[in-house]
Amino acid sequence: MKMIAAVDRNWGIGYKGELLTRISSDLKNFKTLTIGGTVILGRKTIEGFPGARPLPGRKNIVLSRNKELDIEGAMVVHSIEELKEVLAGQESDKVFVIGGASVYEQLLQYCDGAVITKIDEEFIADAYLPVLDDMDRWKMVDESEEYEEKGHRFKFCTYVNNNPENL
Ligand SMILES: NC(=O)c1ccc[n+]([C@@H]2O[C@H](COP(=O)([O-])OP(=O)(O)OC[C@H]3O[C@@H](n4cnc5c(N)ncnc54)[C@H](OP(=O)(O)O)[C@@H]3O)[C@@H](O)[C@H]2O)c1
Repeated sequence: MKMIAAVDRNWGIGYKGELLTRISSDLKNFKTLTIGGTVILGRKTIEGFPGARPLPGRKNIVLSRNKELDIEGAMVVHSIEELKEVLAGQESDKVFVIGGASVYEQLLQYCDGAVITKIDEEFIADAYLPVLDDMDRWKMVDESEEYEEKGHRFKFCTYVNNNPENL
C-alpha cells in the first residue's frame, strides 16, 4: 500500500477542506499512478471532490464513522478494522492512501512507500502530513528534477518505509 500526497514547504496539505493549490501536471501524475487501482480516502476529502463524487476508474473506499452514509460508486467503511477486512486478499501494490490528514496519520505505518509532490511554497494550511524526513523508518530514495507550472515549482519525491506494519 502506498501513500500519495502533495505538500508545501511545511508539509501542509490542505486548508478549509480544500487542496492548497491545483497543479494540473501533478493531478495528471496522480491519475496515472492510481488509475485501475484502489484509493482509500476520508469522508472530508471526498466531500472536497467535484460534486463530492468518487474518482472514476478506481475503486474508492471512503472512511466514515457514519453508518448512514451512502456514496454512489464508493464503498464506505467505518473503521480501520473494517478496512483491513475489505483489503484482505487485494493486490497491495495497487492500493493508495490518498488522504486527508487524519487518514494519512492512521495509515502511514502500514504503507511501504509514498509519492510526495513537494511544492516549493508556503501556503496557509490547517491540515498537515507527518514530516517523513523526521521519521527514522522513512527514507527518500528518489527525487525528480524540479518542474514549474504557472509559477509553482515542485518535485516528485519517492519515499520508502523500511519497516511497514501489516494492516
Ligand atoms: N495535498 C494532498 O495531497 C491532499 C490529499 C487529500 C486531502 N487533502 C486535504 O486534507 C484535508 C482533509 O483532511 P482531514 O483530516 O480534515 O479529513 P479526512 O481525513 O479527509 O476525513 C476525515 C473523516 O474521515 C473519517 N474517518 C477518519 N478516520 C476514521 C476511522 N478510523 N474510522 C472511520 N472513519 C474515519 C471521519 O469521517 P466522519 O466524520 O464522516 O465519521 C473523519 O471525520 C482537506 O483540506 C483536503 O483538501 C490534501
